[in-house]
Amino acid sequence: TKKAFIDNLIAQMTLQEKIGQLNLPTSGDFTTGQAQSSNIGKKIEQGLVGGLFNIKGADKIRAVQKVAVEKSRLKIPMIFGMDVIHGYETTFPIPLGLAATWDTDLVQQSAQIAAREAAADGINWTFSPMVDISREPRWGRVSEGSGEDPFLASEVAKAMVYGYQGKDLALKNTILACVKHFALYGAPEGGMDYNTVDMSHTRMFNEYFPPYKAAVDAGVGSVMASFNEVDGIPATGNKWLMDEVLRKKWGFDGFIVTDYTGINEMVEHGMGDLQQSSALALNAGIDMDMVGEGFLTTLEKSLKEGKVSEAQITQAARRILEAKYDLGLFQDPYRYGNAAEAKKEVFSQKNRDAARSIAAQSMVLLKNDNQVLPLKKQGTVAVIGPLVNNSVNMPGTWSVATKHGSAVTLVDGLKQVVGKDVKILTAKGSNVEDSEKLENIYAAHGKVVDRDNRGKEVLLKEAVEVASKADVIVLAIGESAEMSGESSSRAEITIPQTQVDLLEALKKTGKPIAMVLFTGRPLALSNVHETPDAILNAWFPGTEAGLAIADVLFGKVNPSGKLPMTFPRSLGQVPIYYNHKNTGRPLNPQKVEKCEYERFRANYMDECNTPLYPFGYGLSYTSFTYSEPRVSKERPKGNDKLQVSVDVSNTGSYDGAEVVQLYVRDLVGSNTRPVKELKGFEKVLLKKGETKTVTFTLTPEDLKFYDHKLNYEWEEGEFDIMVGTNSAEVKSKRIYWSK
Ligand code: IFM
Repeated sequence: TKKAFIDNLIAQMTLQEKIGQLNLPTSGDFTTGQAQSSNIGKKIEQGLVGGLFNIKGADKIRAVQKVAVEKSRLKIPMIFGMDVIHGYETTFPIPLGLAATWDTDLVQQSAQIAAREAAADGINWTFSPMVDISREPRWGRVSEGSGEDPFLASEVAKAMVYGYQGKDLALKNTILACVKHFALYGAPEGGMDYNTVDMSHTRMFNEYFPPYKAAVDAGVGSVMASFNEVDGIPATGNKWLMDEVLRKKWGFDGFIVTDYTGINEMVEHGMGDLQQSSALALNAGIDMDMVGEGFLTTLEKSLKEGKVSEAQITQAARRILEAKYDLGLFQDPYRYGNAAEAKKEVFSQKNRDAARSIAAQSMVLLKNDNQVLPLKKQGTVAVIGPLVNNSVNMPGTWSVATKHGSAVTLVDGLKQVVGKDVKILTAKGSNVEDSEKLENIYAAHGKVVDRDNRGKEVLLKEAVEVASKADVIVLAIGESAEMSGESSSRAEITIPQTQVDLLEALKKTGKPIAMVLFTGRPLALSNVHETPDAILNAWFPGTEAGLAIADVLFGKVNPSGKLPMTFPRSLGQVPIYYNHKNTGRPLNPQKVEKCEYERFRANYMDECNTPLYPFGYGLSYTSFTYSEPRVSKERPKGNDKLQVSVDVSNTGSYDGAEVVQLYVRDLVGSNTRPVKELKGFEKVLLKKGETKTVTFTLTPEDLKFYDHKLNYEWEEGEFDIMVGTNSAEVKSKRIYWSK
């Protein structure tokens, strides 16, 4: 049995070898943090390395594994990790885009394909899913998560864990998932990456913890600690978080890894020197030390000094060995990584076709005046914008394994989709930024933006000339890939002014403009929203970018994505999110609607309370109408199941999919409750003219919340049950649920 096998192995291990299992260096192939590890080969031979990350290629991985299983004393295989967070070589939309599909089957499929490709290439552990709830569009890493809502993010988290890990981890096409960053990493003050986080326990448990817990409930095999502090103690050394919450309360029995040099950073946090920080981390429940070698270099000393116990070290080593056992590595250390299989699986046409269709499903139509979209396959289209001919930016941030330069550009995608029916003209129009300094910072992660130094006026003039020869303009503007992602916080969340100027100049041509937005975060679009006729938010769509965008622009795919995060009118509204509290001085709904100010109420003098695009928002080429919601009982009792039904009709002229959303408001509670909480959603396909009834089931489980004593219970009383097309447009039914 597993236990007997591991007991037997542990009995043979020296203290050093146990500590070695806790050590996770990076291969040095890629640098994803500040430090790189050294002398890895030697350490592997000495049994001082538990796993390696960021080494790519079946043959390379096999060669390193050979050192571990042939040259180290106990021949313990290593695990190989990588940030496979939205695909491997075949790259899917950034995770925020994946969440915008509101289609958990598709999300699961993307993770499954990522797992198959990664596993064939030798990787058996991914640092994904990233499920940090965030209401902070300034924070660049919102691109890597599922947005602001605990329910949606939990559904996505489960789908990803199932997709990566499958039914049996030991199968050679499934890999170990790692939910991150535990915890609260998405709530840094001021939206600045790595900054301090401070929040109440009720908020943690009700709003930020659910997706981590959902991943744990789905059986995720590992957890990554976050860089930030939680309650004044860095997560990496926080025993309450790791032991009380994660292990005892939630029953997590996999292993916990730090983030990159997370233990070393505790020194800067002010928790003591490396020895002290390492002991703190082990005592808190951390099992594996990523890159920093704090465990490797100090635990023996701490043991001698009685700061940690051998039992704790053994326990951590055991957890890592268990994961290796579950992955089937003791049976066959070379189970993952087969160059011949990788050749067939990685970046296969089949996988790319799936990426193309998933990318099309992730796009969100924000505006479509006069039905400018879909475009007709005729005439001349001017395709303009700084990234329309740029392949390397299309996969988006954290696409470590992507096949650089192989992503389909917007211009190429359009050409392939329209063939000879449409004449395509192109121009760059502007750089991403006027400031070379900023552009260089954005490009620092390697995603070159091909700066054109001919000057703003020349670029503008060229674009206007090209546009004036066309019937319609497709203008792609927004962010370049590395303007979001790790260490990419922005103090402004607008489109850089030079691109706004381009939009204005093109507007003067009088030609219809379909704007395609590239972005890794919600942007404040008030200054551009009015100008184009249509806006399609494409996020960063992955390797099939151009094809997927073309499919949507020309109507092969009717857009059905919905925003997983609120788009503010202006930065001053941040944090702005749909599931806020009512406050004691709410502005009345009519005034909210009309954007009218009222003194001594919760509102701004110079800004509306509403966002530009609310959570859950997204248009279609067709239109949908909703009936009033019906409930199976107006006074459910105890453990009743409440059916909530609504008839949704496609009243427009295209077939289309609609994400029907269910929200609940608990009107009176022992703690204040949000004005709305997502409790269900379903994506339904409706042919034109068709009506379908969508039915959700609610139980008291869905009404539970953590009160200020952290009791998880539901309370009898009135509830508004709301159904609609987004969080702001709902129809409501009041019920009374008694105990
Ligand atoms: O997985 C990542 C994490 O999200 C950020 N720091 C580096 C890790 C490994 O690359």
